[in-house]
Amino acid sequence: MSTETDYRETKITEDEFTILKALLDAPDDFVSGSLLTEQLGIARPAIWGTLEKLRNQGFDFEAVHNCGYRLIQEPEVLHPALIRYYSKKAATEMDVRYFPVIDSTNNEAERQMAYGRKSPFAIASSCQTQGRGRLGREWYSASADNLYLSVLFEPDIAPQQLQHFTLWAGIYICRALQSFTPKAALKIKWPNDLHCDGRKFAGMLTEAKMDSNRLRSIIFGIGINLNSNPSNYPKELRTIATSLYAIHGATVPLNKITARVLQAINQAYETCIHNKTTETLPDAWSPLSSLDGKPVTALQGDQEISGIANGIDISGALRLTQLDGSTIAIRAGDVTLKK
Ligand code: BTN
Repeated sequence: MSTETDYRETKITEDEFTILKALLDAPDDFVSGSLLTEQLGIARPAIWGTLEKLRNQGFDFEAVHNCGYRLIQEPEVLHPALIRYYSKKAATEMDVRYFPVIDSTNNEAERQMAYGRKSPFAIASSCQTQGRGRLGREWYSASADNLYLSVLFEPDIAPQQLQHFTLWAGIYICRALQSFTPKAALKIKWPNDLHCDGRKFAGMLTEAKMDSNRLRSIIFGIGINLNSNPSNYPKELRTIATSLYAIHGATVPLNKITARVLQAINQAYETCIHNKTTETLPDAWSPLSSLDGKPVTALQGDQEISGIANGIDISGALRLTQLDGSTIAIRAGDVTLKK
């Protein structure tokens, strides 16, 4: 059985980040060795050593005498320096910790909080050994081409203030991802799934810790199928799950997307904490809803309720129009499309 000590964070040094930043900032140019040594204060042997280390992690560089260095390839998997670089570009200063393998990024976020890591922070991974979904389900987490990500906040507020956090996160994340798949419409299936053409490509799981009616911590976890090929998924998922790669018909940039998702999560938090939005929740939700106008069945305890999905109300509940014309609000649970 594995223990938490089996999991190793991939750390980046300030020299690595500084060199990569200089190269990424000048994608079409050579960055001279003297700029790195004189302006950025990195000794020549440290530059060579760092470039060699980065080559082993999937980067590639062109080195030309009297010109300097040029970045010619980024790794195809998640890399903490790239997540940090693209996050900074998106003006999101989030402390992101990357673990190639972890039991669950939500678990690691909780452990890091217990060790005293200052929040907010994020845990990103390329493989979870115990990824979990809503309602006690397992989350398929074996593909390094996907993203497993958790963000921990310690708000110390009344829980009602964050009751719509996951819905807002879904809205902002869906909008952010849409820019990477311009030809296919990405949708949200109430309450926590992202879908395209009836197949799920992402799921969200929010876990909160309360204490005397205050919300002490909130861990928002999201799994997004990015560059994985659904034909490699376990058999039971192949017909119901998809990935952005399958949707878009080409690979998508993992690290840039991670940065955009972090930005979207922050935006959802700001919206809830500081009421920083001019849109209402139902209006923002409406164009993204995968269920609107469709016949669905909601499971409420043992009871099945059927109706036509008709948006969400201001409390975030799913509105179902029943046969007699009345509307019923579904506040929690699972909803399935009627065949
Ligand atoms: C669902 O659709 O049921 C929710 C899936 C949530 C999966 C993510 S992956 C990152 C984080 N860590 C976990 O163990 N689960 C969430």
